[in-house]
Amino acid sequence: MTSAPPLGRRPETVLVVDFGAQYAQLIARRVREADCYSEVVPHTMPAEEMLAKEPAAIILSGGPASVYAPGAPALDEAVVTAGVPVLGICYGFQVMAQALGGTVARTGRREYGQTDASVAGAPSTLFTGQPEQQVVWMSHGDAVTEAPDGCAVTARTDGAPVAAFEDDERRLYGVQWHPEVLHSAHGQQVLSNFLTHGAGLSGSWTSENVAERLVEQAREQIGADHVICGLSGGVDSSVAAAIVQRAVGDQLTCVFVDHGLLRQGEAEQVETDFVAATGVDLVVVDARDRFLDALAGVSDPEEKRKIIGREFIRVFEQAARDIVAAHAPRVDRPADGSGEGQQDGAQQGGAREDGEHPVRWLVQGTLYPDVVESGGGSGAANIKSHHNVGGLPDDLQFQLIEPLRSLFKDEVRQVGLQLGVPEGIVWRQPFPGPGLGIRIIGEVTGDRLDVLRRADAIAREELTAAGLDREIWQCPVVLLADVRSVGVQGDGRTYGHPVVLRPVSSEDAMTADWTRLPYEVLARVSSRITNEVEEVNRVVLDVTSKPPGTIEWE
Ligand code: XMP
Repeated sequence: MTSAPPLGRRPETVLVVDFGAQYAQLIARRVREADCYSEVVPHTMPAEEMLAKEPAAIILSGGPASVYAPGAPALDEAVVTAGVPVLGICYGFQVMAQALGGTVARTGRREYGQTDASVAGAPSTLFTGQPEQQVVWMSHGDAVTEAPDGCAVTARTDGAPVAAFEDDERRLYGVQWHPEVLHSAHGQQVLSNFLTHGAGLSGSWTSENVAERLVEQAREQIGADHVICGLSGGVDSSVAAAIVQRAVGDQLTCVFVDHGLLRQGEAEQVETDFVAATGVDLVVVDARDRFLDALAGVSDPEEKRKIIGREFIRVFEQAARDIVAAHAPRVDRPADGSGEGQQDGAQQGGAREDGEHPVRWLVQGTLYPDVVESGGGSGAANIKSHHNVGGLPDDLQFQLIEPLRSLFKDEVRQVGLQLGVPEGIVWRQPFPGPGLGIRIIGEVTGDRLDVLRRADAIAREELTAAGLDREIWQCPVVLLADVRSVGVQGDGRTYGHPVVLRPVSSEDAMTADWTRLPYEVLARVSSRITNEVEEVNRVVLDVTSKPPGTIEWE
């Protein structure tokens, strides 16, 4: 499988040059929030390559190094002298100052965390409309002590005599602090002032325009071919499918593999609500028994994950083959005495005479952070084997179409709303591919799934009623199916199973903290589950952060 090159006219692009801190992606997101398109590029990219992208503006990110450290990432002067508007941030501010002939020194005064800054009251591009005293988020040891020629100093702090500078003539700007973090009180305004007033961008990256652009791109890319998309019920595959559906209508066939491991109401959300809202052509494969059979007797988490992943691929593959076959043109063979007159595509596995099948594309919901991270090449340890629909055999020869490749998650949601994807799907919290299969500790059986589904539905209902959905990242409910404990209910002794509530707060699921849910909400969830789900007689709360715990229990 290959990934198709990006197509279409490029939007006005802000390049965010990543100097190695964790802030570059955050800057890119903030730029998008200011309705401008952004792309992250590594600082190792040659200047000509950066400029060849014809950026409308460049932002130099912060980074962990000191500009004096041996091997510290350098800045090619060409980046700041090409006439492209530039904003330097933190480390990016210092390398920019150096490249323009200013002075960076070790002042011996570290500033870290919230810091008071005095900003220019006089006309300033970055600080227009802001108070002269503001709280900013700092993290630096070195400081710019002399601004480059032609740059006016527009902010100071105790530890940074030149905390910001501006040169409207050359459209060069810089701040020592991190405007992208929320602790900087007017940070977003600094960024948008740079983009709008400094760089003169039009701010046309709105969800309406983005949706339109992505639909148009998908249409150009697909042409008259046929496309397949695997729907999981999650936001990414749903929005990707909605874009492609809008682009090419019934040239798209979606496949939903019902593995029986979804939560209450989720299969219907896909099969009924999504189809009604978008009009996609959907093939539902009821594979519930197949998955249960394959999982029978298995308790080991990794083994469960592997089985679910394997079965999923097999079922999807078969569905894909069927669709390919159904769309293959009939081929007339000359009578040759063998008795075979006409063969249809199905018998030939859907191949055309030129060796290509007409179903060329497979939709995948890859998001921008995945693109940036895989470009970064950092090999994360395989803690758990995740699965997706990436492993189809080569003979199916799909090309990937990835309509969300340039989007952050919040943008995917906005585009989804724009295209009429049901809110229940758009705002669905993350849910693992292997589903409830990895939330039953012990063997997965139909009865256990049923117990967990009912308990989970109550927890979700109460969290929604308490208005907490957007505050928590997700709240797995886990059934400890092999554990029993004694309880008392009515006049009788019970010997039921515990369920665990695992509410977590997180930015990206890489780290997480347990969410301090209000006691009243916990109490309601607990009493409803133990009253309404007979098999459960105890509800416990997981108060472990990640690390050391992962979010899911398996
Ligand atoms: P962990 O348990 O590793 O989970 O802290 C991090 C995030 O990933 C989700 N998750 C998965 N998502 N396929 C997925 O698509 C998987 O196999 C899988 N396992 C975990 C989990 O729900 C959390 O949001």
